[in-house]
Amino acid sequence: MAPRTSFEVGGMGHSIKRKEDPRFIRGKGTYVDDVQLPGMVYLDIVRSPFAHAKIKKIDASKALAIPGVLAVITGQDLAKYNLHWMPTLMSDTQMVLPVEKVMYQAQEVAAVLATTRYGAADGVAAVEVEYEPLPVVVDPKKALEPGAPVLRTDKKDKKDNRIWHWEWGDGAATDRAIAEADVTVKQDIYIPRIHVASIETCGCVAHFDKVNDKLTVWMTTQAPHAIRTVFALVAGHVGLAEHKIRIISPDIGGGFGGKVPVYPGYVIAVAASVLTGKPVKWIEDRMENLQADSFARDYHITAELAAKKDGTLTALRIKTIADHGYTDAAANPSKFPAGLFHVCTGSYDLKAAHVEVDGVYTNKPPGGIAYRCSFRVTEAVHTIERMVDLMAHQLGVDPAEFRMKNFIKPEQFPYKSALGWEYDSGNYAGALQKAMDKIGYAELKREQVEKRQRGELMGIGISSFTEIVGAGPSKHFDILGLKMFDSCEIRIHPTGKAIARFGTKSQGQGHETTYAQILAEELGIPAADIQVEEGDTDTAPYGLGTYASRSTPVAGAAAAMAARKIQDKARKIAAHLLEAAPEDLVWEPGKFSVKGAPNKSKTIQDIAFAAYTNHPQGMEAGLEAVSYYDPPNLTYPFGSYICVVDIDTGTGEVKVRRFVAVDDCGNIINPMIVEGQIHGGLTMGFAPALLEEISYDEIGNIQGGSFIDYLVPTAVETPKWETDKTCTPSPHHPLGAKGVGESATVGAPAAIANAVVDALWHLGVRHVDIPITPPKVWKLLREKGVAG
Ligand code: CDP
Repeated sequence: MAPRTSFEVGGMGHSIKRKEDPRFIRGKGTYVDDVQLPGMVYLDIVRSPFAHAKIKKIDASKALAIPGVLAVITGQDLAKYNLHWMPTLMSDTQMVLPVEKVMYQAQEVAAVLATTRYGAADGVAAVEVEYEPLPVVVDPKKALEPGAPVLRTDKKDKKDNRIWHWEWGDGAATDRAIAEADVTVKQDIYIPRIHVASIETCGCVAHFDKVNDKLTVWMTTQAPHAIRTVFALVAGHVGLAEHKIRIISPDIGGGFGGKVPVYPGYVIAVAASVLTGKPVKWIEDRMENLQADSFARDYHITAELAAKKDGTLTALRIKTIADHGYTDAAANPSKFPAGLFHVCTGSYDLKAAHVEVDGVYTNKPPGGIAYRCSFRVTEAVHTIERMVDLMAHQLGVDPAEFRMKNFIKPEQFPYKSALGWEYDSGNYAGALQKAMDKIGYAELKREQVEKRQRGELMGIGISSFTEIVGAGPSKHFDILGLKMFDSCEIRIHPTGKAIARFGTKSQGQGHETTYAQILAEELGIPAADIQVEEGDTDTAPYGLGTYASRSTPVAGAAAAMAARKIQDKARKIAAHLLEAAPEDLVWEPGKFSVKGAPNKSKTIQDIAFAAYTNHPQGMEAGLEAVSYYDPPNLTYPFGSYICVVDIDTGTGEVKVRRFVAVDDCGNIINPMIVEGQIHGGLTMGFAPALLEEISYDEIGNIQGGSFIDYLVPTAVETPKWETDKTCTPSPHHPLGAKGVGESATVGAPAAIANAVVDALWHLGVRHVDIPITPPKVWKLLREKGVAG
């Protein structure tokens, strides 16, 4: 789409510089830990060394003797106010602090309040807890076996560790299609537990002002309004009414889904502030963040894909065991316990599909967060992209050709999938062809043949993913009953400058810039003249927050709709100023002119001034509008990624030699920001494909609980990304835009995994679970007799 505004105005399609960057690159951002209040005290948390144990005794005496330690808070203390348990986002229950037993290693056991951060840490070290270890359940499959220890003994009627069973699709039709198929492939796929490792850990400053009865919490949250409501619902009985709660989400150093849940630390800090009347700061350290915050993925999948002899795909059946740790704290829309996993038919025209998921309790941290993905879409994409590749290889058909044959065709949109989704628009073949041309696919295939003859291992992997982002529509999507719309409120000042506030919250995505660009596009007011604010519940309109790439599809649309309301009023004011009929005016970004008399015009700035100084009699003064946008559908961004790997037979190391990413997110607001989103997203897809994993030993000790073992890629390990795009606008979004923030994280792992399997297929390797680490590959190479 060619830009409609000048670069100076900076509407859609311009790579204007990010308005937020001057403060970030000068170190002048305000993050939670930058908040300093007079008389502030510090909270630190005692955590369990055991994965499952009774708490026999907590002795705080030594801790309380440390100078500066003010209090040691236990579950028993919170129980007096009925605040020792809290609801999770999936309406399960989670301990704030335990009174009877702990359920995972690093779980909160008690909290220490002290006058300094170091004093609080010393206090934590001095709290003595007596535990009685209990049998630990680590493997979710074993957790489902008869006779497995029942973990949630707090739930009186719970007789096993199954949280829920959920299924979707036509099981009978799928069984029939699989039984009748000429070819089927079946594969177990484990998508391991990983962790958001944002630069900033979680934390808050809670300040209860006893004079005004008002609680202000600066906190690392991606969804400030929802948090305010949850706080009011959970703590209403101790006097915290919603109008007396202000959540401020200041600058956030990366969220990626990990800053959606309410963690016990927040609640304890709030309780401590309400009880003491002092501001209380709690900031997690890196290991707490990795070990105790909500995890992502952890899906044990068995997938079966069926096709005709000619390579036409017919049916997909998936069974999954979802390890949710000790409580289901997934950040999913309420009606969908497995999130949007049922978008697992991906980019392919499958006539039958059926998905089953069982949520299971184990002795691990809770969660199921949407780590840079729209509620389990990464799991869905990885599965279908691995399975399609497996089928292509099984049939001896080139995986690109196989995809081209089975893609949903452009003329099939809007496309109703076998699992009930209505894809808005797409051109999957276009994106794949562009990626193939860019990488030189045919030449690479020839090179691979030559290399193989020389005993060298080179693989080419494709992932042609479809994302699904922008929840609502509110008819189907809510979180704890809160409908998933989003909002924008715009006020134009008399001099034509503006402030716009949103219900979302940027965590680095550049909303201050791109939202201003949307308004510049719609109103012709330069983006530089528009101040964008988010994250303060006392000022921003109610919204559900930023996660699952919903900001552009939902709040971005709200911005356009609110701007259009302003434009409607501006037309009436312009008509008054120009002494013309409103319908005789022509709009171009930034001004109205009289049809046939282009010199007779009024700029948006003239109109703004008139709105306060010379508006028509009978019209309300001012120029402002608000929109609560309920999207009619989700948006379906997509892309095709092609990855080339070389495998070192001496070490098992997988080297990503080339990686071409062609993305399509419809109309683009800021190409530079989108490029940045894709670069970051690809790196966050590369990481779990080759490096990152959190696992547990048989007694529940976390492996990967520090950056020594949890291998986050740096610039050194990260490949060079080659990006390109196609543009297929969303037909229902007011700007034709789709979300993009997560596409690359969702799409990248399968391209890498498929490349590795492609390199090893001739040796008899059919699948490798991610992360594909050197030891894992080397073991395979040795088994196949090709280790160097
Ligand atoms: O919800 P979140 O902001 O994480 O994701 P998003 O809506 O995909 O947007 C990520 C960033 O990319 C935002 O700054 C968007 O405004 C920008 N974007 C864009 O410029 N054009 C698009 N079509 C989609 C997103």
